Formats: sequence, C-alpha cells, structure tokens
Amino acid sequence: MGVTSKIAPSMLSSDFANLASEAHRMLNYGADWLHMDIMEDGLLTFLIMLPLQDGHFVGNLTIGAPVIESLRKHTKAYLDCHLMVTNPLDYVEPFGKAGASGFTFHIETSKDNWKELIENIKSHGMRPGVAIKPGTSVEEVYPLVEAETPVEMVLVMTVEPGFGGQKFMPETVYDTLLIFWLISPSFSNQVRILRKKYPALDIEVDGGLGPSTIDMAALAGANCIVAGSSVFGAPEPAQVISLLRNSVEKAQLTY
Ligand code: DX5
Ligand code: ZN
Repeated sequence: MGVTSKIAPSMLSSDFANLASEAHRMLNYGADWLHMDIMEDGLLTFLIMLPLQDGHFVGNLTIGAPVIESLRKHTKAYLDCHLMVTNPLDYVEPFGKAGASGFTFHIETSKDNWKELIENIKSHGMRPGVAIKPGTSVEEVYPLVEAETPVEMVLVMTVEPGFGGQKFMPETVYDTLLIFWLISPSFSNQVRILRKKYPALDIEVDGGLGPSTIDMAALAGANCIVAGSSVFGAPEPAQVISLLRNSVEKAQLTY
C-alpha cells in the first residue's frame, strides 16, 4: 500500500492578522493540510544552548491553542500542528480541545515519555507524529513507528527549527557526500532510510522546500511536503503547490 502526496503550506509565512482568509486562500489553491508551527522559545534554548541548560534565551514565539481554536471555527481543514516546545505533554489537552488534527512533537524533548504522549494524543482525537532535528539519528524514532500505539507520521526537519525562509539542508534527505555517510550513517540521509524501512509511512519534510529543492526530497521518499516562503512568496502559489505535488507523485513511481 503506497502513500499519498500531501502539500501543507506553513502558515508561519502567512499574514497572521488575516489567518482565516489566508487559510481559505491556500485551500482554494489546492493545499491538503495547513501546517501550524507552534514555537516556544524554551525549545530553541534547550536545543541550541544545551550546555548551559538555562532555558531562557529569546528564540522565537508563535501561536498557541487559542489561535488553533479560532481558526477551527472558520475551516474543517486538516490542521497539521508542529509542536516545537519543551513539554509537549502540557499542550495535548488544550490542542485537542482547540480542534487540532495532527499533533507532532520533537523526539529530542520526549525520549522518556513518548509512549504516554502518543496515547494521550490519540485519546484527545489527534493523529500522533514525531519530528527529528537535522542532527538527530533516525534510529531514535524506530521504536515509536513500531510501537503498539505508533506514531502515524515522521517529520524530518530539513532546516534547524525556529524560523521560516531558511536554506534547505540536502544531507537530511540523502547523502550529498560520501563523507556524511562515513562519519554518521544514521545522522543524515534520514528520509531515504525511513522510506526504505517503512514503505507505507507518512514522511513529512519541513524547511526550505520549494521548486529548486523538492525533487531531492521527493526522490528520497518524502510524501508530505511543508512549504512556507516558497508558497506564500510566489506570485502564483497554486502553481507552486501543484509543482510540489507533481514532483512527489512522479518520484513515487521510482520507489
Ligand atoms: C521552521 C518551521 C517550518 C517553516 C518552514 O522551524 O518548522 O515549518 O515555517 O518555512 P520555509 O518553507 O519558509 O522554510
Ligand atoms: Zn514546521
């Protein structure tokens, strides 16, 4: 059983002051999901300032459950929530009540409680997903994909989390240079490794995706595509959305 293409514009690049009409605009242009980036500066500090463990560096701060709740009143669309927060467990109930569809947490913050977290997400009516940062070994998510109550999607960050408009990191999808493979086989090439191991798994890529980078990600095996600046910044967003979809569907014929 194959996977279907899903194109998810990242609403981080939208005009937040007109979120509902921006959402309708993207859905009318052919979007399947709406990608919602939930950032709390703690995580950026946790991941970047690990040695200091101080946890209070200004990173980025975006939206919370109240915004999801408001948006849900205007659309039935699938809200693909990407939680870049230190304690995702604290957010499950509010996001479930707000009407979130997908709840994707970072494995870097949930190594000890992911089982409880997945069950909690499902019991609040949401679809569980797990995300990995560029430097995280893909092996860390195998137990979550193979669990009794598994995650239903793996999000591979193709940029460091925190901001839109960053440059795509090709080594996260496939080995650009042999050296990457020799140094750290499972710390790069994450998308290709996952697709080979889990042919029916939804694999999402997030960060720097657009017309010049989509083929690499699609050929490596990604089927869920998040794109912010390349869609919202385009004169014809609908054209970019269909280009991203065509690339995924063409690539699926090769694997
Ligand atoms: C970054 C976010 C991404 C970002 C993508 O931490 O998770 O979803 O908004 O934006 P672009 O496509 O512009 O890189
Ligand atoms: Zn995201």
